[in-house]
This record gives sequence, C-alpha cells and structure tokens, in this order.
Amino acid sequence: MTSRKPIRKAVFPVAGMGTRFLPATKAIPKEMLPIIDRPLIQYAVDEAREAGIDQLIFVTGRGKTAIVEHFDHAFELEATMTGRDKSLDVLEPTRIQPGNLVTVRQQVPLGLGHAIWCARAIVGDEPFAIFLPDELMIGQPGCMKQMVEAYNEVGGNLISVLEVPEDEVSSYGVIDPGKRGFGPGAALTEVRGLVEKPSREAAPSNLIISGRYILQPEVMRVLEHQGKGAGGEIQLTDAMAQMIGSQPFHAVTFAGKRYDCGNKVGFVEATLAIALEREDMRDEVRAMARRLLAD
Ligand code: G1P
Repeated sequence: MTSRKPIRKAVFPVAGMGTRFLPATKAIPKEMLPIIDRPLIQYAVDEAREAGIDQLIFVTGRGKTAIVEHFDHAFELEATMTGRDKSLDVLEPTRIQPGNLVTVRQQVPLGLGHAIWCARAIVGDEPFAIFLPDELMIGQPGCMKQMVEAYNEVGGNLISVLEVPEDEVSSYGVIDPGKRGFGPGAALTEVRGLVEKPSREAAPSNLIISGRYILQPEVMRVLEHQGKGAGGEIQLTDAMAQMIGSQPFHAVTFAGKRYDCGNKVGFVEATLAIALEREDMRDEVRAMARRLLAD
C-alpha cells in the first residue's frame, strides 16, 4: 500500500429546499427528518466519522440552521438532563470537536456542482469526501469506510455505484464501466465515462452514482468553469467526467444496503428496514408489521 494524503474533510451539500417532502419540510430542513430517532444528517455524519473523517463542511442555505444546532453543544438541555440524573450518552453522536464543523452558504440554487464549489476555500488543496445525505447507506463497515480502503489502494477519484433497473437510470448519474471486479473485495470498476441523468436509451450502463464521493481538489478548478448541464444546473458529474484520463477514476460497488430517502417510499422503506434491524425494537416492529399486513 502506498501512502496517500488521508481523507480528513467531508462536504455535505444540504442547501436543497426539500420540496418533495412539503409541507413537512416547510420549516424543518429535510436532512433533519428522522429515521426513527436520528435525523438523516446524523447517519451521514456517523458514516464519515467511522471512516476517520473529522472535519465537516456543510453547504447550507436559508432556513437550514437546525442542522448546525443539532451538532452544537446544548447547554440548557444537558444541564437539565444531568440535574434529573439522565444519561447524556444519547447525545454523543451529536458532539463535534470545536472547530471541526464549518458552514458555507450556497446563495443561489445552481446545482450540486455549484454547491460543492462553494466549499472550495475550506477544502483547500487536499482530497475530500462528499456525502449526499438523502442516500442512506447501511453497511458494516459503512460505505465511506469501504471507499477509503479502496482509495488507499488506488488513490485518485472514487464514487460509489450500484445497479438499478433500467427504467430508473434517468434519475441519476450513470457510469460507463471499464474493467470490473478488482481491488479490495473485488469491488472496483474502472470509470471510462460519466453522464448525468441520461435517457434510458443513451445510458452507458445501469450503474448509478449513489451519493458518496472521494475527489481530488482539482475538481474545484474544473467546477470553476463548468457550464450548465442536465436540468439547467451545474452538475458535479460533468466536472468529474472531465477529470477522467488525467487522474485515476474508479467506482466502488458498496457491499451493504442503500435507501433513497429523497423519495417518500424510500424513506418509509428505510424506516421499516432499520427498525427491523434494531435490537431494541425489532420484535415489536415485526409483530406490528405482521398485524398490519394481515388486514
Ligand atoms: C445527484 C447526482 C447524481 C446522483 C444522485 C444520487 O442527483 O447529481 O449523479 O446519482 O444525486 O442520489 P440529484 O438526486 O441531486 O438529482
């Protein structure tokens, strides 16, 4: 294994308005919607920390303050709980070392590529991770940890991919795969091309980008000049496509489960699936689901 610059920083684009979940998301950021007792953003942050990433960069916008509050020290709450002899362990995942959470604002909704570019000064000159919190990835180890292991082998740029039915490719970024099935866990695929939201006919495969990235800082320079792409937005996929050939570019097939919490059915699926896995509730939830399905 050669030594690579470690991945210490992660960017979380969380400026989106969450219109698909209105009215729930009128006053609450969609990233704060809970899957059982943890907001979506918490799952993404947990996954980052498990992968050894401790510097969190949130690209936020108006009305998103609750996300930052969630990871802040809540003095009154903690004092009250301590006064009542309640354990503070439950708050542990929300504790971030002072200085390790930075926010930048995306002032206009110009697309994912633009959101990432807004973090360029904080990212600086080192490789970094990106998490799209809508994509809930559950695995042991987590998706980013699997990607960091692959990164330690091949370096360069990595994206997580998974297969979807052909009629779904037009909702995602799609890869043109080269050599497949090598590296740690035989999970690596060479990326020869990338297309954002292609038609079913134009899609080079059914392998889609599933919301986790490890990118070299040069992508920021490419984004600087990136024109509008699919949906009239500045697309991260288009900027990444331009880096293929000049830097290693690989896809990692994640060994684990993925839930698309950007849509309502995916959100319900995630809630049920995680409840059925959790030791503290699975028996009761299973019995409840059986009862409901029997009607
Ligand atoms: C974004 C990316 C796309 C990726 C998807 C994963 O699309 O642009 O390449 O496949 O996330 O969820 P969005 O969901 O923002 O339209």
